[in-house]
Amino acid sequence: MLELNGISKVYGQGASQVEALRDVDLNISPGEFVAVMGTSGCGKTTLLNIIGCLDTATSGIYTLQGKDVSRLSLKDKARVRNKTFGFVFQAFNLLAEYTVLENVTLPLRYSGVPKRRWKEQGLGVLERLGIADLSSRYPDQLSGGQQQRVAIARALVNDPEIIIADEPTGNLDTGTGREIVSVLCDLVEKQKKIVILATHDGAVASRAQRLLQMVDGRIIDDSTVPTGAVSFSHPAE
Ligand SMILES: Nc1ncnc2c1ncn2[C@@H]1O[C@H](COP(=O)(O)OP(=O)(O)OP(=O)(O)O)[C@@H](O)[C@H]1O
Ligand SMILES: [Mg+2]
Repeated sequence: MLELNGISKVYGQGASQVEALRDVDLNISPGEFVAVMGTSGCGKTTLLNIIGCLDTATSGIYTLQGKDVSRLSLKDKARVRNKTFGFVFQAFNLLAEYTVLENVTLPLRYSGVPKRRWKEQGLGVLERLGIADLSSRYPDQLSGGQQQRVAIARALVNDPEIIIADEPTGNLDTGTGREIVSVLCDLVEKQKKIVILATHDGAVASRAQRLLQMVDGRIIDDSTVPTGAVSFSHPAE
């Protein structure tokens, strides 16, 4: 489904060069929930951005659904991104002047879905996340957890295969964060989506079946918990 071979990323030039990723190899299959951990600056966001076609590797090969996407043009990258990925960030990134439903349907404007179907599709995903009653509110009328659910709804509205979540619980209290991770777990268990999540929180990471440990731009450990060993509804803490 998704394969990185010898992926490196260098930012900047000359003396100010930073090697954010060094020779990363990685394979991820449908139905995997992968957590990425490591200290600040180790390259988690860089890795997620390259996987999500938000950024381009300096060297190495990235194969997505059997196609080489390592060096796509900006336009092709945007197309792949919109079709294949949903993104959830620490700062919920909702647009303040739009309602919940308008925020959630924003990605549909760029996806070729006819306008008459936007509302139905947006409400459908809000319903699945249990927040259809919030559809006409504005982001500043929501709690943090509700805002993150809306952001997840927006990430899902195009029915992407892969959800990229960069510190999705970073701005939430523990209980609310746990609920948000449960929503992501459900996507993996019930819909066989891929979720790739970066976090500093060991309790959040423990909900994933697979944990990547990064140090200084490298994946130094990649361990998979055998199926059945993880309880999705009662996280180990
Ligand atoms: N646009 C950029 N230009 C230059 N250097 C960058 C850029 N983005 C990231 N870096 C550097 O690349 C390295 C990896 O950064 P990255 O954001 O991937 O780390 P991270 O693991 O996500 O950290 P955090 O936990 O703080 O979010 C860091 O040294 C960072 O300073
Ligand atoms: Mg980061």
